[in-house]
Amino acid sequence: MGSLRSNNQPIALVPTMGALHDGHLSLVRAAQKVTQNVIVSIFVNPAQFNQNDDLQNYPRTLPEDAEKLKALEIPVIWAPSPSTIYPDGFSTSMAIKGLDQNLCGATRPGHFNGVILIVAKLFNQTDADIAFFGEKDYQQLAIIKQMARDLDFNIDIRGVPTVRNKDGLALSSRNIHLSDEQLSAASALPLALQMAAASIKEGENIDKAIARARENMIAAGFNSIDYMDLVDAKTLEKLKQWDGVEARLLVAAFIGNTRLIDNIKVK
Ligand code: PAF
Repeated sequence: MGSLRSNNQPIALVPTMGALHDGHLSLVRAAQKVTQNVIVSIFVNPAQFNQNDDLQNYPRTLPEDAEKLKALEIPVIWAPSPSTIYPDGFSTSMAIKGLDQNLCGATRPGHFNGVILIVAKLFNQTDADIAFFGEKDYQQLAIIKQMARDLDFNIDIRGVPTVRNKDGLALSSRNIHLSDEQLSAASALPLALQMAAASIKEGENIDKAIARARENMIAAGFNSIDYMDLVDAKTLEKLKQWDGVEARLLVAAFIGNTRLIDNIKVK
């Protein structure tokens, strides 16, 4: 990886867990607009999974991923083995405070601690100057920015807008678990977000707008809504009323056994 420095361009890192779809490839393209020196990491990180089942069932498609990256002429794919990342005797952990208390952090204890651990390791291993993350995982992006600030990583962290299918559904590695019927019902999620965000901007009470959005999603076929909250875009603190501050409306919901997340800017 040291040789990447020889052309005097910055090094950009796109961390992924593989099973690459167009959402990941948009991160790669965003990186390629800045530099030729793009490293894509592919590592299904055991430290960020709460349940062993999820870890075992996570899609692993390295040969196909490598083909997609080769087509984009990515110079370095970093796909380490678990024992390279966490060799016997590995005994360091990291913990983020505050930002992980609500939203996904509330139902996935320890998840973001595992994320920042691997991301910090990848930052060190790749010597990156810039790193690209999807805005779909908005809480993750905010937490990684905080970790990079707190630990003095000299890395520019950039968020890339969510890529959606023709019905507005955010692309996600989990979408492959959806049946055709679930896939079409799932478009109720981005629609509910858009409608609630528009109503809040028009001055409707936040709780009412969110209650209606939740009802619409359940009526469309979602089994349960983990959360739908309007939060301050920087602190992720829940907002009870909206006074024009930059905010984000975030949702996590189950359709069948598949948990989908998404978010939208409210500004
Ligand atoms: O967003 C992901 O795919 C993962 O959480 C990340 C950032 C690659 C860390 O494992």
